[in-house]
Parts: sequence; structure tokens; C-alpha cells
Amino acid sequence: MIVFDRTCGTFTLHTRSTTYQMKADQYGVLLHTYYGPRVGEGDLSGLIQYADRGFSPNPSEAHPRRDYSLDTLPQEYSTCGVGDYRLSSVQVEQPDGSQALDLRYAGYEIRRGKYALPGLPAFRGEDGETLSISLRDPGSGVEAELLYGVFEDYDLITRAVQIVNRGEEPVKLQRVMSLCLDFLPLDLDLITFNGAHVRERWPDRAPIRPGVQGVGSSRGMSSHQHNPFVMICEHDTGEDHGVCYGAALLYSGDFEAMAERSQFGDIRLVMGLVQLQWTLEPGEVFAAPEAALVCSPSGFGQMSRQLHRAVRERLVRDPCQGGRRPVLINNWEATYFDFNKEKLLDIARAAAPLGIELLVMDDGWFGVRDSDTSGLGDWTVNEKKLPGGLGELVSEVRRLGMRFGLWVEPEMISEDSELYRAHPDWALGVPGRPGSRGRGQLTLDFSRKDVREHVYAALRKVLDSAEVSYLKWDMNRCLTDVWSAALPPRRQGETRHRYVLGVYEMLENLRRDYPHMLVEGCAGGGGRFDLGMLYYTPQIWCSDNTDAIDRLRIQYGTSFCYPACCMGAHVSAVPNEQTGRVTPLETRGVAAMSGAFGYEMDVGKCGEAEKAVIRTQVETFKTHYRLIQEGGYYRLTDPFADPELTAWAHVAPDGREALVSIVTGSGHAAPRFRLLRLKGLDPDAVYRINGGAELCRGSVLMNAGWPVPPLRGDYQSLQLHLEAE
Ligand code: DGJ
Repeated sequence: MIVFDRTCGTFTLHTRSTTYQMKADQYGVLLHTYYGPRVGEGDLSGLIQYADRGFSPNPSEAHPRRDYSLDTLPQEYSTCGVGDYRLSSVQVEQPDGSQALDLRYAGYEIRRGKYALPGLPAFRGEDGETLSISLRDPGSGVEAELLYGVFEDYDLITRAVQIVNRGEEPVKLQRVMSLCLDFLPLDLDLITFNGAHVRERWPDRAPIRPGVQGVGSSRGMSSHQHNPFVMICEHDTGEDHGVCYGAALLYSGDFEAMAERSQFGDIRLVMGLVQLQWTLEPGEVFAAPEAALVCSPSGFGQMSRQLHRAVRERLVRDPCQGGRRPVLINNWEATYFDFNKEKLLDIARAAAPLGIELLVMDDGWFGVRDSDTSGLGDWTVNEKKLPGGLGELVSEVRRLGMRFGLWVEPEMISEDSELYRAHPDWALGVPGRPGSRGRGQLTLDFSRKDVREHVYAALRKVLDSAEVSYLKWDMNRCLTDVWSAALPPRRQGETRHRYVLGVYEMLENLRRDYPHMLVEGCAGGGGRFDLGMLYYTPQIWCSDNTDAIDRLRIQYGTSFCYPACCMGAHVSAVPNEQTGRVTPLETRGVAAMSGAFGYEMDVGKCGEAEKAVIRTQVETFKTHYRLIQEGGYYRLTDPFADPELTAWAHVAPDGREALVSIVTGSGHAAPRFRLLRLKGLDPDAVYRINGGAELCRGSVLMNAGWPVPPLRGDYQSLQLHLEAE
């Protein structure tokens, strides 16, 4: 619900359990008054303190007041160059070369339905509401439209910003934040999700210190290194108690998420685009990507569940439309580039009787591609490997009762390719500089329409040649030497954002032209795991690390923002390709089953006993699919704090059914006794465990716990299926 109170000038956004408020004051400065657990009606600007602070300037309208400074007041959308020295939300170079920007309140509109952002990912919903607030810089023609989407039932507030140039000369946008959130002075922690290729999204928690801290990416992708999702919380906030905030950017390119603790202890969080150098001509509009905000009064778990439901129901556009996504098998780790039609069919023949439903042909099927040194860009089937083309392979796969999926890496080009020989200028690169390679390849200039059109037409030819039910869209290097042959020098700073918009456009076209095809995002695993990609690709390959034990940590970190149904997770062979670790097949299944489930191995090489395990895993996943995908996700332990026992649960919305997964660490003699406290159950219900004779009351399971039996050996696992009687 959005309420504008004319008498005091407050805009209040209520969701079921949170309140967000701002207010335009007597000088037209839009002050942020509150965001947090729901409070009643009323003007909360009394929370703001005014004081004469040395070296914090006073705007001329406030003269002779010395207790009024943009530098000390909580701002809804901070500006720069006119008195607020904290993190600015927007930075422009004005036609006169100055960087002064003073955004003052100019009007508002409240609309039914949630705003959309053409060309950009965004949460959707007719039942949402939109608040639009216009801010204007009196000294130039620059205006900002602040957009707020309110999803009451989801406790979700979205924000976006459009900058409009109403002046007569171009201005240059250098930085546009989607989100600025000022917190009143409180001691808060910042939690970020960091890592590397094959070690993505490990949480890092630290008190917000004086000065600026945060994360970002300048890699042209949201990155393995830092995820565009952060949390802010009180020092004692935990999984099930305390206030916490989650902020996610729906964007897949460069970003910054920065928190600043200022001189008087208040904290500002900004999130958005930096180093833009975007020329905004008179009359043009620049739309910054959307940001999503959630606040939970009762810990991280609640916050994640809120966000998961919103992502599943209001962001992801699932071609399976509520149905089950297929259990797939991917040939990558089984064959790498060394495969042909018969080898693939052998894998499919072994997989089909185990209940696996879709075969994905990964990298190596096109052009001349026997290693990662050649072929990218030549999206025509290599008939040496696949005689009869895609059509024949797919018909045979379908005859086995399976569907077919294909891997592509459309944004890339190998120098050793027909495409590069014909169009060397289609690759990003600065003339006169040798440029860097990543995995030996260059990046296509997706900011260019002609390049996108060529690649799209080539992909369409392939996709139209056979029934392709699934597409894995990969991207295996980050951007360097960003320079587009299609843009003049003064516009080169736009290439990086135009590139991302180009990727989005192509993905949207794929959705339009192949509405029933499931697209899985991938960037060397989880290098572009963000809400922007999830709008176009309902699932994302979580990591190139398929080691079950490493995955526990990666999936744990990922789960703070992203729901299980979005995390591609596969069972692979042992010793594991990335770590060399040997884990039991059962444990690999338990870890992978908590995501978009599949296999990444040649199941034909498995003995009968292993095949029986796989058959059971696939059946278990299919049986509990709804619970895993739509149930509430409860982190029962923290694998970083306690690697000896990792546990999580998927719980039905009414709490009457749950699937609890438990994985142990390395085995030790004389292990200590363990009780595992469950969460999310109905305290009064009595649960039958794994359909057996064991019955247990919800309140006992949640308060006392369930005694975990000692499990012999390294990396053992258990699953408990609980059903209320
Ligand atoms: C990186 C992906 O993450 C892998 O799963 C695989 O598709 C390779 N690329 C193929 O080159």
C-alpha cells in the first residue's frame, strides 16, 4: 500500500510486515525517514536529528540555518557537488563542465500495477503498485524519476531510476545508482557474497566501519568474485532473529554495491552503475536497472524465503509453467570435446532407463571445435562428429524417450573461426592494442545490432533444425579492451552497458521465438548468477565446481538470495574433476537434489548398484519436486561454521511436509552426539519420518531436535521426509 499524506508530505510504502517512508521537506529535499519492520501511520521525520556540524555546508535556501546540511541528513537519492560528501547516487557532467547536481522534489504519481522497464529485467505484477517521484535540478535540465514498486504480500519493494535530460545540450552520466538507502545511526554489519571461479558466493560478514566499503565488478559481468546481492543487519542478527535487509540488483554487468559509515555514524547503502560515461542527449531517458529490497524483522532465513517466493513467482518466467523441469544429463565432464553422435547416444541410452529426461550436448558440437582454441562464432553443426546434423541426433534421442538440449556461447568468438576471419572488427578490442584473451577467446561486440542479428540468425538456424527443448547459454571470459567499432570516441564509455542490454535483447528474443524452450544461464558456472539473468534464464549453472562438499558451501551462500529451483546442480563422477575428492554417490545426489537437478557424467560407466542408486535419486527428486522448488528453504546449519554437519530443509508452506537433507564432513572415531533442530514445522503436528514407524511432534523436532545417528565414513548423507499425520 502506498500512502501520500498531504498534511505532512510523507510517502509511506507498507508491505505486510515492513514500512518504508520518505518525505519532501520545506526545501524540496527528499528525505528518507525510515525503512524497517512495519510501524503504524504517521510522520517519522521526527527520527531525523538536526545539528550544526562544522564543515558540513548549508544550502542557500536554508540560510541562516546552520543545522541544515545535505551532508548530515538522510537522503532518498543523494546528489553530488552541492554539499553531500557521502556516496552519491548520481553523477553527471553538466554542459558547462561542472558536476553540480541538486535534485529537488517536483511531483509524484501513484499508479496501480507495477512499472516495467523496457529492455531491462524487472519484477512483474498487476497486483503491485507504483510510486513515481520526480526530482528536478533547478540549475540544469536534469531530472530523475524515482520509481518504487510495492509487492505487499511479498514484503518486496523494488526501485528503479530514470534520468531525463530536459535541457538543450547533452549531459554525461557518470554514475547512476538504482538504490540509495540511508539508515539512521545504528551499528550495522554488511554481508557480501564473494569468491572466484569454482568458489562462488561465500558469505563475508563485517561491521560497517567509518568510510566506504563494499563490492563491485568491472569485468563486464556480475562476476564470480562479487555478487550483486548484499545484506545489511544488526550485529546480533542471525538466521532466525534480528532485523536484516537484503538488496539485489537486477543486472548482469558492472556494478557497485557500497556502504558508507559517515562521520556521525549513519550508514548509506548505494547500488547501481558506475563509470558509465553515457551521453544523454536532450529529450533522452536513461533507465538504471531495477533493485529489489526486502527487510525481515526475524533473521536471514525469513528474508531469504521472502525473496525466494518473489523471485519464483514474480521474476522468473518459467517455460515449464508450474510443471516440473526435466532431470537432465550433460556430457561435459563425461566427454569434454571428445564426443560424437554414438558416444552421446550411449550416454542417453544408459540414462533414459534411469528416469533421466533430457540429454544436453555441451561444448564442441559446432564449427571446428576439438578444444577451446577454435570455432566459437561458427554456429553450424560439425557433421564429422554428428553425421546427419542435429535433426538425426535429436530424433534418436527422442526415440529413447528423452528430450534434447544444446550448449551455446553466443557472446564469444575464437580468432580461429570463419566468423573472425570474415569480421575481425566484430570482436571488442581497442585499435592498435593487442588485447587480452580469456580462455583463448575474444568477446563479440554485443553492443552492436548487426553483430547480434548475425549471431541470432545463426542460432535460429540451428534451433529450427531440430526440436531443442533446453538451451545452455554460456559465457567464458570477462570483458577487456572494451571498445566498439560502431561508436564514436566520446561514446565508447557506453559500450559496456550497451553490451549487457544487447545480451538481454537477445535473450528476450529467444523467449519470444522459443517460448517452450528452457534456457539455463551459465558463465563458467556462476559468473553471472544474478536476478537480471534469472529474468531471462529460469535457472543458472551454479558453479563449475561439481564437488558435492564444496557445493554445500556454494549453494549455502547462493541460497541467501536465490531460490533452489534456480541453481543448476548436477551429480558428477568421482574423483571429482575440480577437487579430486571422492564422495559417496548418495551424498552427491543429496547435494544436487537441492537445485535444478541433473547429472554430469557418463552413467553408462556405472555398475548396476550405482545405477540403482541413481534410479532412486531421480525418483526421490521427482517425488519431492514441488517441495524442493516451492517449499520454504530453511538453512539448519552453517557449513562454514560447522563443516562436520550441514543440513537444510525444504518445508511445505503449511509446514505439514518437509524434506530434510543432512551431509556429514570427514569421519572420525568416537563422534560426538548430534541433535539437529528442525525449523518451519507445525509445532502441534505429529510427523511420520520416512514413512516408517517413527513419529515425532513438531515442537519436539524444532525445540529439542532430531538425534542424528553416527554415520560411518567420510561425507555421508541422510534425507528425512516428514509428513504430518
Ligand atoms: C563452462 C561451463 O560452466 C561448463 O559447464 C561447460 O559448459 C564449459 N564451459 C564448456 O566449455
